[in-house]
Amino acid sequence: MAFKPANNIQDLQYFGEFGGVNPSISDSSTYTFLSAKTMFDTFEGNADGCYLYSRHSTPSNLYLGEALAAMEGTETANVSASGMGAITPVIMQLCGAGDHVVSSRTIYGGTYAFLKNFAPRFNVETSFVDITKLDVVEAAITTNTKVLYCESVSNPLLEVADIKGLAQLAKKYNLKLIVDNTFSPLSISPAKLGADVVIHSLTKFINGSSDTVGGVVCGTQEFINDLRNVNDGASMLLGSTMDSLRAASVLKNLRTLHIRMQQHSKNGLYLAQKFQNDGLKTVYPGLPSHPSHELFTSMMNETYGFGGMLTIDVGSLDKANALMELMQERNLGYLAVSLGFYKTLFSAPGSSTSSEIPEDEQKEMGLSDGLIRFSIGLDADIERTYTMMRECMETLNILNSKEDAVLS
Ligand SMILES: Cc1ncc(COP(=O)(O)O)c(C=O)c1O
Repeated sequence: MAFKPANNIQDLQYFGEFGGVNPSISDSSTYTFLSAKTMFDTFEGNADGCYLYSRHSTPSNLYLGEALAAMEGTETANVSASGMGAITPVIMQLCGAGDHVVSSRTIYGGTYAFLKNFAPRFNVETSFVDITKLDVVEAAITTNTKVLYCESVSNPLLEVADIKGLAQLAKKYNLKLIVDNTFSPLSISPAKLGADVVIHSLTKFINGSSDTVGGVVCGTQEFINDLRNVNDGASMLLGSTMDSLRAASVLKNLRTLHIRMQQHSKNGLYLAQKFQNDGLKTVYPGLPSHPSHELFTSMMNETYGFGGMLTIDVGSLDKANALMELMQERNLGYLAVSLGFYKTLFSAPGSSTSSEIPEDEQKEMGLSDGLIRFSIGLDADIERTYTMMRECMETLNILNSKEDAVLS
């Protein structure tokens, strides 16, 4: 039967303490015990339903975690204060000194920097590979490899990972497959395709209002318990805990994610088709010209489309900067990093979100200077937006004006 993540979210019914339609917020950092014995049992992990201290868990965080686990089809989940606060403990939990990670080379710059510059301090090494080539991935696996790491749709190049194929490799070599699904919530369900751990930066589409950072790790009860373990759990000990007030607000926003994703995808596809027809080098997984269009189609859940992320290449960083400034001036969106907002956001990844990646490596992976990454907003009238964007491109001679084209 088809997996329906939005139904799973809708079916979660939480009552507030006084019958409220939203769950009550637990506004406490610590919790009382009626007996000292229960406190002891809770420390030992043997007192279900008892709360101890809010770095460990809170009712509000558990509500949000449960909803995100339902969305991803995993047993449970642990929310964190940011996406990086989800990613780094997972890697630290699964890898110790001497271990090795095989990672996609096109991943979020912060994750790349962590694996490349920080994890080696703990003697955890990473091989960065072209994740779209399963033979290359397999060749990079060594006897020390513990983790395969990728993004379902990569930041910023929008490469698509063959999650089923990677899951088979993970099984063959007894590795854990970690998939960051930040760019494709609802559309792709990595755990259903064989991923062991699914991560999101909630900061993006899931929260959708660019008012907070947040993250989540979705996985088995056993793995989430390990992360939360008071003695050796990386989430518990590294301490990247989400605040309960935030968990409550992210949960409310999650309730509208399915509607927002449909609009982001509708607008993304419309602009991608127009830009491509205009002769701009356009990358969008919904375009048949995308090298992994069929793969994405084979993995996706019905209804939510190919997402709101697209890139165009306008030839040079100067042109990219001029275009972004002009689009912002004309109120078409914001020149800002991040994604998943109601308004379009654009940035040049080479000099921003992926600047952690050295220039020669950027070139090798196809991250060109003139690349602009768009997170397409929820614009009600995307035809009007397109017309205005096209006018900006004509003003800057990135595109010839239609009249010139007719005259020449
Ligand atoms: C794909 C992806 N994963 C993880 C992160 C990190 O999330 P956060 O900024 O919430 O720590 C980002 C941030 O841009 C991202 O784009």
